[in-house]
Parts: sequence; structure tokens; C-alpha cells
Amino acid sequence: MRLGGPARFVVSVRRPEEVAEAYQFAEEQGLPTWALGGGANTIGRDEGFPGVVILNELKGVEIVREVGDAVQVKWMGGEVWDDAVAWACERDYTGIEALSLIPGTVGAAPVQNIGAYGQEVGQVLVSVEAYDRRERRMCMLRRDEMGLGYRRTRFNTGADAGRFYIVSVTLELKRGQMQPPFYNSLQRYIDEHQETDLSPAGVRRMVCAIREAKLPDPRKEASAGSFFKNVIVPAEQVAEMEARGIPVRRLEDGRGKINSGWLIEACGLKGQRLHGFRVSEQAALVLINESATSYLELTMARAEIVGTVEAKFGVRLEQEPVEMIA
Ligand code: EPU
Repeated sequence: MRLGGPARFVVSVRRPEEVAEAYQFAEEQGLPTWALGGGANTIGRDEGFPGVVILNELKGVEIVREVGDAVQVKWMGGEVWDDAVAWACERDYTGIEALSLIPGTVGAAPVQNIGAYGQEVGQVLVSVEAYDRRERRMCMLRRDEMGLGYRRTRFNTGADAGRFYIVSVTLELKRGQMQPPFYNSLQRYIDEHQETDLSPAGVRRMVCAIREAKLPDPRKEASAGSFFKNVIVPAEQVAEMEARGIPVRRLEDGRGKINSGWLIEACGLKGQRLHGFRVSEQAALVLINESATSYLELTMARAEIVGTVEAKFGVRLEQEPVEMIA
């Protein structure tokens, strides 16, 4: 988001043993820590970070198991996520092709359970190797120990948030291709372009085209991707929301999902400029930093959007990126 001041220390971790050393260093200094991958979904405060930022630069990829059509692949946490997707698509493995072009690192992917166009990393996760800060040792977590949900997991929510530093991620991919029904905008793209190649590489190409048309390239325009989460409402509130004219999509468990982009657009905020930020005209969930230089400006822009949506629809938007707080 191109905001925030400097960190007191930045430690690059290039070997797994260095993770424990970095935390030990911080402890000796009596300083707080912050685990950082690519920083694509992290917002800094103006005063900077008064502790040790531990950058994940662990590299490597290896096939750990191959059984029939399935393959288990282990990536080190500091690998670039999109390179991992490209690696899988080049070898014709399905499972993460719809997660093409998501900025950030492999180690960050399980933290918020990244998802897009009908796939979530949680669906193909086997395990992660992590440094457990509480027990001060390396550990292995299986998929069912990760508390996976929509943009929330044991890694970012609840008592264990921040406890695990992800060293490597093992995913199970398969030979084959995505099966319908496809996510709305993907299906629309397939229809409009009369696409027939639904191989992992084909879907990757389509998702890249959709994202490039809709989402700002963080290297060119500063943003944190979606700035707000979509809203999940309990089953008993669905009818009430619909009565207010809000489109609600029923989830399998009866709860409802409201597109926050729709709410923001319906408030007339799409394309609006607020305190140095612009609400993207292609995707209203995305806030682009045009000229803001302070966190304060972000809080003002955010308050206007959240307040306007709440006043009109009675729904409170929640921020999606995390903030670097000691
Ligand atoms: N919509 C609008 N106006 C908008 C944007 C969306 O009305 O300006 C409505 C439309 O009905 C549209 C629907 O919302 O059909 C879904 O829109 P879209 O497919 O663009 O997805 P999204 O809900 O806005 C989510 C993720 C994105 C992810 C896309 C595609 C969240 C917070 N965001 O956005 O993830 O790429 O789906 O799967 O869940 C991110 O997390 O940073 C991110 C970019």
C-alpha cells in the first residue's frame, strides 16, 4: 500500500535454522517481531515497526511423493507464490491454477487461506512445517490442524495467531483439470472468448487476463488487493438482508455471502477519490493509493467507506489486509 515507516531491524531468513536465531535475537533485544513474506497484504503504520521484521527468503521446491495421478510438492516459504503456480501449470498439475497472479509468497498463502475464482489453497494443503514460537522448535501441522475458513485460519485468528512461522508448505496436486461449475467471472470469460482449453495452463492464462483487467498491478499502483472482506451473514439474517435489496448468495451451510464490492458500488463510491486513495473503478473492493503518504489518510478514507456502507445498508465492512502493530 506504500505506507508506513521503517523497521528497527530487518532479518532475512535463508536457512530454516535461522528462524529460531531470528526470534532469539529479538528476545535478547527485548523487541517485538513481525513475520513478513512479500508484504503484499500488510499495511505499515507511520511510526514504523519498533522491532524485528523477519523476512522469509527460504527457497526451494521438491516433489515429496507421487502416487498415481497425485503429486505432493513441498515449497519453501519464501518462494514467490505465482512462481509456484506457474511450476504446477507447466507440469499440468491442477489445484492452484485459479490462484494465479496472487501477489506474495508461498509461506503467506496458508496464513489467510488465499482464494480466488473457485479455488482456495486450503483445498490442496497437506501440511506445513513451521517454527513454533511457543514451544521454540520446528513442528509439522496437518491440514486439519489449521482451522481453515474464509480468509481466516489458526495462523491469523484466535489464541495461536502469530505463533507459527511458516517454513515450508506441502500441497497435493493432481493431473487433470478444473471441473465445472466455474466461478462466475471465469465462466463469463470462457463464454465470451469461446475458450476450450481448460487445462491448468489454460485456466492460468484466463485468470491472469481477468486479474490484469480488474486488479491493479502492485508494482505499478500501490494497493493491498481487496481492502475489504466479503461479508458472511448468519442464516437467520439472510431474509432481512434481501428485504433491504441486497443480493445474498447462499452458502452450502445456509449462511449468506454478500459481495462487499457490490455494497460499495451501490453507495456510488466506485472510482471516487478519498484522502489520496481511489476506489478502483474495476473492482470496488480495491483501494489504490494515488498520493497518500500517511496512515492517517488511510484511516479517513476507510472511515468514509465503512460509514457510508453502514448508513445505507446496516452492514459493517471488515478490513482484509493486516496491519503491522507491535
Ligand atoms: N461486485 C460488484 N461491484 C464491484 C465488485 C464486485 O458489484 O465493484 C460484485 C459483482 O456481483 C461480482 C461479484 O461482486 O460478480 C464478485 O466480484 P469479483 O469476482 O470481482 O470478486 P470479489 O468478491 O470482489 C473476491 C476476492 C478476490 C478474488 C476474487 C475472485 C475477497 C475479499 N476478495 O473478490 O481476492 O481475486 O474474489 O475470486 O474475497 C484479495 O483477497 O485481495 C483478492 C483480490
